[in-house]
Amino acid sequence: MNKRINIAIDGPAGAGKSTVARKVADNLSFLYIDTGAMYRALTYKAIEKDIDLENGPLLKELLDDTVIDLQVGESEQLVLVDNMNVTTDIRSYAVTNNVSFVARQSEVRLEMVKRQKMLADRGGVVMDGRDIGTHVLPESELKVFLSASVEERATRRYNELIGNGTEADYDRIKDEIALRDKRDTEREVAPLVKADDAIEIDTTKMTISEVVDQILQLAKERA
Ligand code: DC
Repeated sequence: MNKRINIAIDGPAGAGKSTVARKVADNLSFLYIDTGAMYRALTYKAIEKDIDLENGPLLKELLDDTVIDLQVGESEQLVLVDNMNVTTDIRSYAVTNNVSFVARQSEVRLEMVKRQKMLADRGGVVMDGRDIGTHVLPESELKVFLSASVEERATRRYNELIGNGTEADYDRIKDEIALRDKRDTEREVAPLVKADDAIEIDTTKMTISEVVDQILQLAKERA
């Protein structure tokens, strides 16, 4: 690919964004940036420090004092908070169910978006999140909105947990995903919404490699 375009991938929880985005980035030798991990990292630190997760100014103060580093690992992206590896901790139940409170604080979003724009400054980035096409990289050459039915997303999460040997309750997972969707789409600041010029791919009945191939084809056309 001769032009280092930026690719924005948005969509609800469990639509396959991170798996797909990482594979697209690997294929193009682009940098993969998981912006959800940045909100999770701050949530993790706020919980550790017992900070009110709905106090925007206080969370912003905490963020100003926090270095979030995303590194390329062997099989996954490594997430470091103040040089500490929190890759596993940020996927905990507590973080997952509280991150949308932190992510809806405007003070927090403003700073996160600033950091994310800087990371994509030189192009060659595949970035996934909720507001990438609409707010972080509105000028990106390719915007994709991944969707899938809530049942399918819950099934994927359920299978992932069972596959890891973790106990899981399908109905509870489905309710939690639906609740997170609601909080992410109904929040006032930068809600989850498809950008007008994004291409929507409904992944409900697609395999990961089919989705990846479709995005690579689109990237080729845009470059
Ligand atoms: O993609 P994820 O599940 O790791 O995202 C965690 C939370 O962060 C999710 O509830 C929505 C929020 N988020 C956001 O508001 N904006 C982004 N660009 C990425 C994630």
